[in-house]
Formats: sequence, C-alpha cells, structure tokens
Amino acid sequence: MTRVLFVCLGNICRSPLAEAIFNSQIREGKFQTKFIAASCATANYHVGSPPDPRTIRNALLNGIEIKHVGRQFSVVDFEAFDWIIAMDRSNYNNILQLPNSKNYRNKIKLMRVFDTEYPGVDVPDPYYGGEKDFQEVFDILTRSVSGLIKVLEE
Ligand code: 4NP
Repeated sequence: MTRVLFVCLGNICRSPLAEAIFNSQIREGKFQTKFIAASCATANYHVGSPPDPRTIRNALLNGIEIKHVGRQFSVVDFEAFDWIIAMDRSNYNNILQLPNSKNYRNKIKLMRVFDTEYPGVDVPDPYYGGEKDFQEVFDILTRSVSGLIKVLEE
C-alpha cells in the first residue's frame, strides 16, 4: 500500500483537486500497487471547509467530482504517508520548517517534478485568478498526477 498526501496552502483549490484527479486516474488504470490519496493545507484558514466552488465547478466541467473537507498538515503525517507532494515551493518550504521534517526530506516532493510534458516548478495558486487559471491548474495537475503514478508504479 502506497500512501500519498497532496499539500497546498489552503486545501480548497489545488490539493483536493490533485487528490480527486489521482483517484480518478487510479480508478481508470490497471495498477499493480494499491494507493491511498489524501490532501491537506499548510495554513489553517479553511479547516473544515469544502473546496472552493470555482474548483468544484471547473473539475466537474472536466468530468471530475471533488468531495473533501479541509484539514491542516500535522507532523504525524510525516509517518502516516509515504509521499508528501507540495504544490509549490512555498508549501514545500513550509513543510520543511516543521519539527523533525529533515528526517523525512526524501519523501517530500514538488508536484511539478512529475510534469514531464511542460516542465515548471510550481502549480500556480489560482485563488486570486479567473476561470482560465483554474483550467490551467487542472491541466497541470492532470499531467503531473499521471507522471507521479508512473513513477510510483516503477
Ligand atoms: P490552495 O489555494 O492553496 O490551492 O487551496 C488557496 C486557497 C486559499 C487561500 C490561498 C490559496 N487563501 O489565502 O485563503
């Protein structure tokens, strides 16, 4: 069993979408490995909240249903997950500032490392953007999750 945790700032736009896309691609594929995916925030602003309505709507337009309740990253997640995937460098650095994070450095990755088609560093934060930005995030995450699953299957 491989456990994957997607992390962003608010856990209402990027990381719950990454989790939903991951689960969708897993359902559609024939994989040897069993996976469990989850998502959370570095910040506590949206703990207990559903995903951003713009994320839910954009995902539905692309055939993906998202159901999630916001939660914040906790240091127990360092042990509970095999892979901790940060959406951008800010999330990545925030995780590495937590107590004992250095012991888990090898399991903490940046999502775009797996976007082999259009290399980039960050999944851009769509929160202050428009529909086009939400679609761009959807496309980046679709490619990145696909690359991630290929690596996990190796
Ligand atoms: P996310 O987007 O990190 O992709 O969930 C954001 C959500 C909320 C905020 C910022 C980014 N915020 O400032 O409340």
